Order: sequence, then structure tokens, then C-alpha cells
Amino acid sequence: MASTQQQRYILVERRDDGIAVVRINRTDKLNAMNLDVIAQLSSAMDDLAGDDTVRAVIITGTGEKAFSAGADIEYMSRISPLEAEEYARRGHAAMSKVENLNKPVIAAVNGYALGGGCELALACDIRIASRNAVLAQPEVGLGICPGWGGTQRLARIVGVAKAKELVYTGRRVNAEEALSMGLVNRVVELPQLMDESIAVAREIAKNSAIAVRVSKMLINRGVESDISTGLALEVWGWSLCFTHPDRAERMSRFLQKR
Ligand code: CAA
Repeated sequence: MASTQQQRYILVERRDDGIAVVRINRTDKLNAMNLDVIAQLSSAMDDLAGDDTVRAVIITGTGEKAFSAGADIEYMSRISPLEAEEYARRGHAAMSKVENLNKPVIAAVNGYALGGGCELALACDIRIASRNAVLAQPEVGLGICPGWGGTQRLARIVGVAKAKELVYTGRRVNAEEALSMGLVNRVVELPQLMDESIAVAREIAKNSAIAVRVSKMLINRGVESDISTGLALEVWGWSLCFTHPDRAERMSRFLQKR
């Protein structure tokens, strides 16, 4: 699993409006994610988790062609089953860091989101796609199953029947079809993609960070639990918000305006 390249494959821009833009920057390979990309993505998530000035994160791909073309096929063509296990584990760890980041993550899907690229988008909270976006889980055509969460998160987002169709056929779906099946939240023209993603992130950022954080945690844990467990967690999460000064300030602001 030796990894020698020291290139910067993940670029993080911290904006002064509390939004961080994370760009996968490996355009010559359509932002395919090798071990270095995965490691740098993981480390970017760790940094952002510890930065309270960041209230929402946008992940996108550099260039106009690809969000990410997935795991690195050249690398996968020559690895052993044990190395494959490690690649899957590291991919999973990175996707889980995105999914469980203590602030919302928006995928700005700016072109191909294939295999691991689609799985990265699935780990984000909200997906906004440009009209030229193409999403697919084409792994079975390469003799493997989806390996960075696609067999699990896709079904939870679009339902079991659609997920099975997409995974078994590997069929590419365009942005409109992705929207119709709930795979993406909205579709905009490519030149508007970042503005639209930033607008959504700003809408989130104006709200109480702790309340958004607790909401994210409750929704993520809730979909994995039976409803009574999810509702019990909600009681704790809700009352936890009352320990934060933000709640008192925001409520009294509301009352004073009256
Ligand atoms: N891994 C490694 N390199 C990739 C790549 C990938 N996933 N996708 C594209 N590239 C490379 C190409 O090899 C090519 O490199 P060279 O210029 O050095 O030859 C470069 O990126 C440009 O790609 P193309 O010439 O193929 O561009 P295109 O416009 O003709 O086609 C495409 C674009 C349809 C996205 C095509 O590149 C493609 O099908 N890519 C593979 C997509 C894929 O199957 N992804 C799933 C990977 S498996 C996975 O992700 C497993 C998992 O669950 C974790």
C-alpha cells in the first residue's frame, strides 16, 4: 500500500462566510480517488471538524467534467485481495468522516460521479447536480461490487428497488433522472452550480450551528434505528439544545421583535 506522491489532491478554501469548499484536484484522471486522495480527504474532514468557524462544507471536483470518476482503476487492476480490503477500509473511513462530519456537507456534483465518486456524493447530506452530471455505480462491469458504501447508502436514499437496478446494470443516469429518483436534491446549469451550492450552505449557516449539528446526528442515527430509538434520541438531542446560549438568544430575539 505504499503511497509515494506528495501532490495536493484536496484543496480546501475557507471562505469568510463560514463556508468551506473542498475540491478534489486530480483533473488528469477525472478526479479518480487513489490512496493519496482518500488520505487527504480524510485529513481535510478532520481539520474541518475541529474548525468552529466553518458552518457548512461543499465538496466538488476541480474542472467542468468530473466530480469524481471513482476509485482508481489502474491501482485496483494490480492489487491483492488484502490490499483491496485496505483500500475499501480507507475509502469507508473517508466516506464515514464526510457522512458524520459535525456540520452539513453539500456535494456540488459537477459532472461524472461514478463508482466511488457517486458513493462520496451519497455520503454528503445534500446533493446539487449540474445539468451535465452523470451518476452511476458501474462497478459490476469491472468485476467488483460497489465498495465505498454504494450497496448501503444508495438503497437508503433511492430505495431498494432503484438501488438494485442501478447497481446490477451499472446504468448511468443523467441529472434529471437522478432528480426524479431523489438521488440528487436539485439540478442547475453548470455555471450556477457553485452559486447555488453556496446559497444553500449560507441558508444553513445562518441557523444555530449546534441545532443543525444535533439535527444531522439525529437524522443519521435515526435512519439506522427503529423509530422508538430514534424518537428517544430526539428527546435527548432536543433538550441538549437548551444547554446552549444560542437557543436563549435566538428565542429572546424572536420575542423582542414582537
Ligand atoms: N480510475 C483511474 N483513472 C481514471 C478513472 C478511474 N476511475 N476514470 C478515468 N480515468 C483516467 C483515464 O484512464 C484517463 O487517463 P489517461 O488520460 O492517462 O489515459 C483520464 O482519466 C481521462 O479519462 P478518459 O480518457 O476515459 O475520459 P473519457 O471522457 O473518454 O471518459 C469516463 C470519461 C466515462 C468517466 C471514463 O473515464 C470512465 O468510464 N471512467 C471510469 C469510471 C468508473 O468505472 N468508475 C468506477 C470505478 S470502481 C469504484 O469506484 C469502486 C468503488 O466502489 C470504490
